[in-house]
Amino acid sequence: MARNRFDVDERLETPFNIKHLLRAGVYIKRHAFKMTLSLIFSAISAVCALVGPMLVERALNDAVPNKDYRQIVILSVIMLVAILLSIFFSILRSKYMTIVGQEIIYAIRKDLFEHLQKLPFQFYDDRPHGKILTRVINYVNSVSDALSNGIINFVLEIFNLILIAIFMLMCDVRLSLVVMAGVPVFAGIIFILKPAQRRAWQDTSNKSSNLNAYLHESLDGMKITQVFTREEKNAEIYNDLNTKMYKAWMKAQYTSNLIGFSVENISTIVVGIMYLVGLSMLGPAVQIGTLIALASYAWRFWQPILQLANLYNTFINAVAYLERIFEMLDEPVTVDDAPDATELPEITGNVTFDDVTFSYDNTINVLEHFSLDVKAGESIALVGPTGAGKTTVVNLLSRFYNINSGELHIDGHDISKVTLHSLRKQMGIMLQDSFIFSGTIMDNIRYGRLDATDEEVIAAAKTVRAHDFISEMPEGYNTQVNERGSRLSQGQKQLIAFARTLLSDPKILVLDEATSSIDAKTERLLQEGLDALLKGRTSFVIAHRLSTIKNSDRILYIANKGIAESGSHDELIELKGNYYHLYTAQLEE
Ligand SMILES: Nc1ncnc2c1ncn2[C@@H]1O[C@H](COP(=O)(O)OP(=O)(O)O)[C@@H](O)[C@H]1O
Ligand SMILES: [Mg+2]
Repeated sequence: MARNRFDVDERLETPFNIKHLLRAGVYIKRHAFKMTLSLIFSAISAVCALVGPMLVERALNDAVPNKDYRQIVILSVIMLVAILLSIFFSILRSKYMTIVGQEIIYAIRKDLFEHLQKLPFQFYDDRPHGKILTRVINYVNSVSDALSNGIINFVLEIFNLILIAIFMLMCDVRLSLVVMAGVPVFAGIIFILKPAQRRAWQDTSNKSSNLNAYLHESLDGMKITQVFTREEKNAEIYNDLNTKMYKAWMKAQYTSNLIGFSVENISTIVVGIMYLVGLSMLGPAVQIGTLIALASYAWRFWQPILQLANLYNTFINAVAYLERIFEMLDEPVTVDDAPDATELPEITGNVTFDDVTFSYDNTINVLEHFSLDVKAGESIALVGPTGAGKTTVVNLLSRFYNINSGELHIDGHDISKVTLHSLRKQMGIMLQDSFIFSGTIMDNIRYGRLDATDEEVIAAAKTVRAHDFISEMPEGYNTQVNERGSRLSQGQKQLIAFARTLLSDPKILVLDEATSSIDAKTERLLQEGLDALLKGRTSFVIAHRLSTIKNSDRILYIANKGIAESGSHDELIELKGNYYHLYTAQLEE
């Protein structure tokens, strides 16, 4: 999935490529038995439906003129049974097909989600999440019908077509040929219209994907929109996308309708001609019953042709969707376990950055020749201007991104050579934006260590001074919070995220502006709890309020792609450099 925005089409045209349909075979194969069964049921149902006109022919040509009432009754009963059987088997088939369709959706969705969870930060950095959602939900839904019903119907309609042709030919060869003469004409029309139709449907799905992307982004940023009263402008953008979607859909529908109309008109014309020819030949050669039966088959003959034309359309769309689904499944997991990755044994917490150079986009380096030696249990503070690379340093430590050159060791193990799971499991990382999941506060704190007892959760909350405000809530730890924690204050969210990080009992603790939204008094209380907790753990703390990191073993002033100053608080104050200026400026405040 290429980097993209809501106002850029993903790709206008993809040539029809059977490769994707074949690859989807993996998902279909698992249901081979049910699919075959459905096909058999469908075939039985189709044959039962087709004997009708034959019985009518017999009745009109033979039984009615001869007033053979017994035969009429028998023919009627056979007809009734045939219709009932046809309905019965068609219901059975629907039942199986629904199951197969849903199972295919289920399997693709599962694979997609599992893959999405493996994709690195880089993937999510600048791809519209709305477009990812469209793939996982809309495209998968659309594809499932093509892969289940579509395939069965395709086989079935061809079978139907052949069967009807045989029944028709059995009635009268010459008249049948008149009916079939419309086929090449229709094929010509399809040949002309199809490419336009395919393009139109692909354009529709692009426009719908853009619309979803913008909607998703708007929902996420709704509060900011209202703060800046941008509603009007956003409505304009949305309406524009909406109009494009509407127009694309209308255009696609128009070409599809054109094909439907052609089939109807061609079939009406050929059946009309057949009637004329048939009536002119009426007599011993062509009986009236035969003509009526033939007309009935002739109408039916065009049904599968129309269905096949529609199915072709379904497959075209499905292939375009499948391509995007597979593209996402094939999205390389660039941050992955090395083939010979080993488990990182229980660590003590020594960290070494050895001449590390890193860039997010392979053009501008954020860190250059960055070297740092941290002993187990040492507390490190990172300070410096916004955008200097503090978050980047700690992101690299957990290998959320791969470094461009240099090496990063924990306890002497190169972190690119150990499994991500064993690495991240031992790190406690509190990211800059403390995300809250939907569920109870208890669930949120327990997020990273599912086996933690309630007492452990409460103890962690007490340490970070979150216990008091949680207990004051109407349902305490069982209070439901929504996704993103919209019912909590920013500071409360941070305290919960803090407790969540602590509960995982990490050897290396990373706090990225963990206390930026917490008032000074709570922070001081929190600090006491933390000091006890940080003992024996390596910690990396990024903070703007320098009072909170004054006691760190070492303070690093990050600037100019590396460490500009390094030392204890007293040493850096003595140095009278950047840190000194920052500190005195804050003191004055
Ligand atoms: N995901 C990203 N993709 C591209 N560039 C990024 C990304 N995250 C941060 N940057 C850039 O890297 C630099 C360092 O960012 P960061 O480490 O977040 O700074 P800070 O010191 O404020 O934590 C900034 O110039 C920022 O623009
Ligand atoms: Mg940062």
